[in-house]
Amino acid sequence: MACQLPLLALLLTAASATAMQCSTSALPHNARVDCWPEIVGASESACHGRGCCWRDDSETVNDDSEPFCFYPADYPTYRLVGSRDSPAGGAELALNFRRDSGPSAWPPSRQIDQVSLSVSAHSDRVARIQIADRPDTSRWRVPLPLFGGDETGAAAQQFSVRTSSSAGERFFVQVTRNSDGWPLFDTGSSDGAFGPLLFADQFIQLSIGLSAQVIYGLGEHLGPFAKPLNQWKRFVLWNRDAEPNPDRNLYGSHNFLLAVGGGGRAFGIFLLNSNAQEVMLQPRLGQRATVTYRTIGGILDFFVFVGPTPKDVIQQYHELLGPPMMPPLWSLGYHLCRFGFGTLDRLKFIYERNVKINIPIDVMWSDADYMDGFKDWTVGAEKYSGFDTFIKQIHSQHRSVVVIVDPGIKNNSTGYLAYDLGLKMDIWMRTADNKSYIVGAVWPGDVLWPDFTHPNATLYWQRSSNEFLFKYPVDGLWIDMNEPSSFYQGSDTGCPKGNPLDFPPYVPHIIGYNILYQGTVCPSARQYLGSHYDLHNLYSYFEAKATWQVLRTRPDGQKDNRQRQFVLSRSTFPGIQRFAFHWTGDNNADWYNLRYSLSTILSFNLYGIVNTGTDVCGFNSATTEELCIRWTQLGAFYPFMRNHNSLGLPDQDPAAFSPIAQQIMRYHISLRYAFLPYMYTEFYRATANGSTVARSLMEEFPNDEETWLIDDQFMFGPALMICPVTVEGAVDRQVYFPPSARWFDVHAQYFAEVTPKGLQTVPAPLENIPLYIRGGHVIPMQDPGNDTYHQKLLQPFLLIVAPDADGLASGSLFWDRNGVDDLSLGNYQLMEFSASKGSLSSRLVHQFPIGVQMQLFGLQVLGVATKPANVIVNGRKRQFMYSNGWLSVSNLVGVDLKSPLRASWN
Ligand SMILES: *[C@@H]1O[C@H](CO)[C@@H](O)[C@H](O)[C@H]1NC(C)=O
Ligand SMILES: *[C@@H]1O[C@H](CO)[C@@H](O)[C@H](O)[C@H]1NC(C)=O
Ligand SMILES: *[C@@H]1O[C@H](CO)[C@@H](O)[C@H](O)[C@H]1NC(C)=O
Ligand SMILES: *[C@@H]1O[C@H](CO)[C@@H](O)[C@H](O)[C@H]1NC(C)=O
Ligand SMILES: *[C@@H]1O[C@H](CO)[C@@H](O)[C@H](O)[C@H]1NC(C)=O
Ligand SMILES: *[C@@H]1O[C@H](CO)[C@@H](O)[C@H](O)[C@H]1NC(C)=O
Repeated sequence: MACQLPLLALLLTAASATAMQCSTSALPHNARVDCWPEIVGASESACHGRGCCWRDDSETVNDDSEPFCFYPADYPTYRLVGSRDSPAGGAELALNFRRDSGPSAWPPSRQIDQVSLSVSAHSDRVARIQIADRPDTSRWRVPLPLFGGDETGAAAQQFSVRTSSSAGERFFVQVTRNSDGWPLFDTGSSDGAFGPLLFADQFIQLSIGLSAQVIYGLGEHLGPFAKPLNQWKRFVLWNRDAEPNPDRNLYGSHNFLLAVGGGGRAFGIFLLNSNAQEVMLQPRLGQRATVTYRTIGGILDFFVFVGPTPKDVIQQYHELLGPPMMPPLWSLGYHLCRFGFGTLDRLKFIYERNVKINIPIDVMWSDADYMDGFKDWTVGAEKYSGFDTFIKQIHSQHRSVVVIVDPGIKNNSTGYLAYDLGLKMDIWMRTADNKSYIVGAVWPGDVLWPDFTHPNATLYWQRSSNEFLFKYPVDGLWIDMNEPSSFYQGSDTGCPKGNPLDFPPYVPHIIGYNILYQGTVCPSARQYLGSHYDLHNLYSYFEAKATWQVLRTRPDGQKDNRQRQFVLSRSTFPGIQRFAFHWTGDNNADWYNLRYSLSTILSFNLYGIVNTGTDVCGFNSATTEELCIRWTQLGAFYPFMRNHNSLGLPDQDPAAFSPIAQQIMRYHISLRYAFLPYMYTEFYRATANGSTVARSLMEEFPNDEETWLIDDQFMFGPALMICPVTVEGAVDRQVYFPPSARWFDVHAQYFAEVTPKGLQTVPAPLENIPLYIRGGHVIPMQDPGNDTYHQKLLQPFLLIVAPDADGLASGSLFWDRNGVDDLSLGNYQLMEFSASKGSLSSRLVHQFPIGVQMQLFGLQVLGVATKPANVIVNGRKRQFMYSNGWLSVSNLVGVDLKSPLRASWN
């Protein structure tokens, strides 16, 4: 009988809690924050044991994802200790809080009772909100350099902050935008919160009310680009080698969201935290949706970007992380790769057969085929003998070679430098007890893991690759399997039982049944900067940085350390764009993956990793001729275009297909080369000014709500709209033409202007990808060459002037000396074009004698209402053609774009 008393007491407490704080009037459905985020174990009594409310059986729910167990409105919270002095605007605020007694979702031993809140201005347009333990017990903080900080005075600050201010007041923080009073970051007020702040050793959670209609970001995931705030949805971030499928955590973690609301007003939120984490979206309730951030380590370190346009938010975020690398010019060309060339002879054969049918190519790749037993920095003696000669031959044709390297180093002590040196320099990741090295398994068999956070790791990476790079002077490195991905679960011996880092009390909903170490290294593994638990999502960041460093200081004498480098990484973390580009991993050759490749590429452009592409024609499973044609058409407008295919599958290089398919592929790859000057300039803008390259229509037309959910057509820069066919057998498709712009059809005779606008069905025969030029822009083009080197050297330019409704157009052109120099050297020309009714002129913004011709061959003006009597270019009357609004001037002999241009037609 004695044991019944506590039980009764518990039930009574729970019952009164239900009555008082759990009702729908206190907490409408959409405002309920999940108190049982685990996959299993929810029950009414367990829920009450956490002091939470259990959903009434009689309640009707709108969505199966609604939680059964949720926090009551007055769940214990943190309260202000002391009171806050009235703060001078702009100054950093630092406040201390202590938690009420009462129930806790976590064992009290893990709960952190005192926390601090600090709010500061990273710049006048970026607020930083940090919530940490107090006193500071040196919890994990992400060692990421941040940029764009600016101690501007309060006068320039474009946001205001409200927080708890009197002793005992509950925790809250609100950031609003000054220009319109818009709430950007809002945990609630002194009257109540959107959900409780929970702060425990391995479980931190904060809910905010998000005033927006749609958000973008929270990757890496496969699926739609836009996330309308009308659903319960969980986004899990934990870097993982997994074939892209919806609702999986994938290779990279980017906890950034771009929020857009009425009138296209935008703001952004970035959580700088590297632990396993998840973001839970709930459907909107009136103006706001509850969004819950949950992480199992570190601190909460939020950055809030005031916008107010989507472009502003993107620029503010990119500025914080540092600019993306400017890609070498050659890397904008066509890349041909596959796993399973098997031998160098086969690789050469595939290369040559595509050269023979005049496919423009810049880069040949080798997957792990080239290695000796899959060991890094080795070359298979028989199958790839003569690889050095081949690289020289490719270089003599001014083309490039990129090879793969994986981080795991084979445990092979028979004279394998990368292994011996790693042991000697002691740079491997260690087991939790520091007694031995963590052993993983990847393609070569058992491997040890370089700890790229170790101060000597870059030196190790250089010394182990020196000989290889000297003999095989490849132009770029492709870093794969760097989540890191292991064929063991944790290690060859699993992970130490009972270690809370390997078996945390809560694991976000990752794939693999909540086993944090599935397919990777034990979180308890030791790295120089901390535990793998904290550093896992950063593994690729540090590897990319070291790899970039290796290429900058390579020994082959041909390169100096002031050249742009090419590193391609599968796994990513914010900031990696300073060292690497990205492809979207092991996709499948199907229409779904073609369709949604766009969302991923648009998302990575938001994250600042603008140079991203997807394996064209699909990696896993056999492609079809039609799919490969459609994918090549779309891939021609990916920032990064590489055809890549997996082991044992039929060839999918252009020459593998029928003559008709070859012709269509050649045309579209050439079309990419024709737009090279425009694309290169957009990359320059992204690097110099913080912008996307591939971008959504929403970004260009934020106040046109019709654009918000569109992710099957997109823009390259501001001026080109690409509308791929993503449905098998389709010969037409619907295209949305934002009515506020003029659109000219690239494939129509005389670049006919599109009318009417809005949603239209357009023809999309297999031969062509629907492609439109937006009025208001001047697009620099070039006759396509067989590679970027010869094109740059030999081909003349063409300018397309597409005026807007007022007859105005502008554009720019970035062109440089050799396509690889660091921008900081200034070896480039930058010119701006501006056109008004009947005239076009250029202005040099940055001048450098780049030593190459920039011959202007032709000028085409679209939308010219009447046939002009005269066309004058640089003071000379020129021959021209005119038809249906299209004016074309060619044979512009002697016009050098490096000098100011003056053209008129009237
Ligand atoms: C490498 O493998 C050998 C043979 O299996 C083993 O004895 C040795 O301990 C391994 N070395 C490391 C550093 O794990
Ligand atoms: C180490 O490499 C050599 C040469 O490639 C190979 O013969 C040997 O089997 C390897 N040993 C192990 C333990 O993998
Ligand atoms: C871990 O072990 C290595 C090698 O024995 C030793 O050099 C290092 O100091 C140890 N680290 C710690 C934190 O004990
Ligand atoms: C790095 O290498 C240097 C030179 O060998 C050595 O003195 C130093 O201890 C190493 N650093 C670490 C952290 O192991
Ligand atoms: C840089 O960004 C600002 C703000 O978005 C914009 O006004 C400006 O035109 C951009 N400059 C260039 C060179 O793209
Ligand atoms: C590419 O074109 C240039 C110029 O016509 C030519 O010199 C070069 O040989 C071509 N490259 C190949 C690999 O055919």
